[in-house]
Amino acid sequence: IMKVKKICCIGAGYVGGPTCSVMACKCPDIQVTVVDLNKARINAWNSDQLPIYEPGLDEIVQKHRGKNLFFSTNIDDAIKSADLIFISVNTPTKTYGIGKGRAADLKYVESCARHIAAVSTGFKIVVEKSTVPVRAAASISSILSSNKQSSTSYQVLSNPEFLAEGTAVENLVNPDRVLIGGEKSPEGNAAVDALAEIYANWVDPEKIIKTNTWSSELSKLAANAFLAQRISSINSMSAICEATGADVGEVANAVGKDSRIGNKFLQASIGFGGSCFQKDVLNLVYLCEALNLPEVANYWQQVIEINNYQRRRFANHIVSSLYNTVYGKQITLLGFAFKKDTGDTRESSAIYVAKYLMDEGANLKIYDPKVPSKQIMVELEHPTISECPEKARELIDVCDDPYVACQGAHAIAVCTEWDMFKTLDFEKIFNSMLKPAFIFDGRGILPYEKLLDIGFEVLLMGKCPRETVLRKQYFPSCNFK
Ligand code: UDX
Ligand code: ADP
Repeated sequence: IMKVKKICCIGAGYVGGPTCSVMACKCPDIQVTVVDLNKARINAWNSDQLPIYEPGLDEIVQKHRGKNLFFSTNIDDAIKSADLIFISVNTPTKTYGIGKGRAADLKYVESCARHIAAVSTGFKIVVEKSTVPVRAAASISSILSSNKQSSTSYQVLSNPEFLAEGTAVENLVNPDRVLIGGEKSPEGNAAVDALAEIYANWVDPEKIIKTNTWSSELSKLAANAFLAQRISSINSMSAICEATGADVGEVANAVGKDSRIGNKFLQASIGFGGSCFQKDVLNLVYLCEALNLPEVANYWQQVIEINNYQRRRFANHIVSSLYNTVYGKQITLLGFAFKKDTGDTRESSAIYVAKYLMDEGANLKIYDPKVPSKQIMVELEHPTISECPEKARELIDVCDDPYVACQGAHAIAVCTEWDMFKTLDFEKIFNSMLKPAFIFDGRGILPYEKLLDIGFEVLLMGKCPRETVLRKQYFPSCNFK
């Protein structure tokens, strides 16, 4: 088996950074260099303030940086000296041209492939880590082989990353599985084995799955689509619960007890966010259309439709509860990240809730323990969200204290499930708000019996509130004992 001694990872983002840090930590004999075009990002990786927040990551980087883990903008040298190159650049949904709004944009992957071809000599294993459409490895191979120098040869592998943000280090150290796809040939198998050997330094060989390249690429899309589908399924149930008096938490618990179904990913919410789920499902839909499988495409498209519906429904609940107008009213959003324990806001449902409320003329105060105010404004000033940046700035006030954010509010909307929100002093918050004081818990995390006792009007996704003004007004069909 070929021994990999030097690894280069192109792309120092949410995937490349943590993955290579853990790899360096678990393989002291391998030198790992993470490179990026973005100088500011590399500087941050080399500083005390890492560009991304992940529990446990700081310690690993501190321990290995400068020893067998390096962050650099010298992409050429890192490629030249590496035996194995990971491509972990971003593959956002296309915002232009064919496949706009659905297909993954592969321009960054392609530019990496061209860069590798331009500077490489000898044999290289090139590994796609970014989530890519099925058959992207074939495109990378074609670019590499059409541009290669005579002495150079490549094997292209697919090794998708399944880490979730906020638990990246834990997922990397203790993965459910490692998936490696390669060409079914002696050379392909040898390259797959070389990569598997790296993981075998800390992963049980039984968990290392070897497949053909396309199975590996499709499995990544399929895994994310199945997870997203569970969330849309439970969110669709939450709408039925509100209309009938069933409780979505009780339904999720009863359904999840079936060992064939399992109890994870059944938390009703304001919809899934993050850089992966929507992008990957849309990517799958686009793939099905391209393959002339319209029934399959429609099936997966519904996962997205329900997610959009849930975001809209949450905002509509707020507007209708506040006597059908939020114009000029102060609404406080608690949480802006797409989930707890991360500062990432990509595709966060909070963005869309904020958009719908801004469209209605509401004034928003926003508090998130981790997301910088600049980042919140970048998301909300985006032309797809606000009429114009001035309008966004006029309506939005980002606060660095949850109590200040709630002062004088007509309503609070919980958009991210941060643990700290569960233990806020709600008596103090209630006393500082306008009455009736509304709380819309889009994550189902607050102690709502206690909130009702304090005097709040409480609304949860998929749960009819106890005997309150809201319930009588908006849930007349709720069939309560
Ligand atoms: C996801 C996959 O979990 C991971 O395997 C893949 O590699 C990348 O995409 P991530 O986007 O980091 O990871 O977060 P995840 O924990 O999956 O949550 C995604 C979204 O779904 C979040 O907005 C979360 O709040 C929401 N969610 C999750 C729910 O609304 N309900 C649930 O029960 C679970
Ligand atoms: P992900 O969540 O997939 O890791 P990110 O956007 O966090 O995505 O990170 C991708 C990184 O890849 C960015 O820091 C970007 O600057 C970098 N990148 C994109 N294209 C190239 C390229 N051709 N060469 C080097 N780095 C690149």
